[in-house]
Amino acid sequence: MRTIIAGNWKMHKDRRAAADLLAEVVSGLRSSPSRVEVIVAPAFPFLEMAAAMVAEEGVRVAAQNCHQEPQGAYTGEVSAAMLHSIGVDHCIVGHSERRQYYGESDDVVGRKVAALVAQGITPIYCCGESLEERDREAQFDVVATQLHAALAGQDHQVYGRLVVAYEPVWAIGTGRTATAAQAQEMHAFIRSELVTVAGEEAHDIPILYGGSCKPENAPELFACTDVNGGLIGGASLEASSFLELVRIAETVMA
Ligand code: 13P
Repeated sequence: MRTIIAGNWKMHKDRRAAADLLAEVVSGLRSSPSRVEVIVAPAFPFLEMAAAMVAEEGVRVAAQNCHQEPQGAYTGEVSAAMLHSIGVDHCIVGHSERRQYYGESDDVVGRKVAALVAQGITPIYCCGESLEERDREAQFDVVATQLHAALAGQDHQVYGRLVVAYEPVWAIGTGRTATAAQAQEMHAFIRSELVTVAGEEAHDIPILYGGSCKPENAPELFACTDVNGGLIGGASLEASSFLELVRIAETVMA
């Protein structure tokens, strides 16, 4: 199984700051090479620059969103083909912030997944329950519904490429992380649901944990059998903490 550390920079960093952060990450990985797959997701305007900077480095570049249609009159949107044309090879879709603030449904997110795979781009599909849903113990129903609604019935190519990220909404940016037991329980559940959706191929789909993951709690989280790395927000905005997470993932893999 691959191990992945992906940094979701969200709406942070201007051009200079994005270039500086990426240069630091690249230099850290050069001096301490890793078998971990490292992905960075800067904002749209800096994706092409980022792709050029990491072209020879083995670091991958992800967008944070794309549109589900191949082209058309969708002012302000970016297609999967456009991302492909500038060297982007991964794309986060269905992040809870997009579901919450932009009303993205599982149907739309599922179409984004298909659009990306048609362009040879790896979708990082995010799922996860809110605090209210966890409090009423609905987390498994919620996540199962998200997975089935967005991923069932996709072309088989999709399952060969897909990465899933479990991000409990109550843990995102709150400093409150899932315990290792909570993460493992949900990741194992996601794996079993993915088997019903995708068949045996699901055993090769990396499932990342996201939500206040940082060097202090990562060793425990990454040690879980079904946690195959992390989707990192806040701790990806500093090269030192991001590189430390890569190092921890590498240690746990060994
Ligand atoms: P934080 O690591 O800042 O909680 O963000 C997680 C996240 O949303 C990554 O996509």
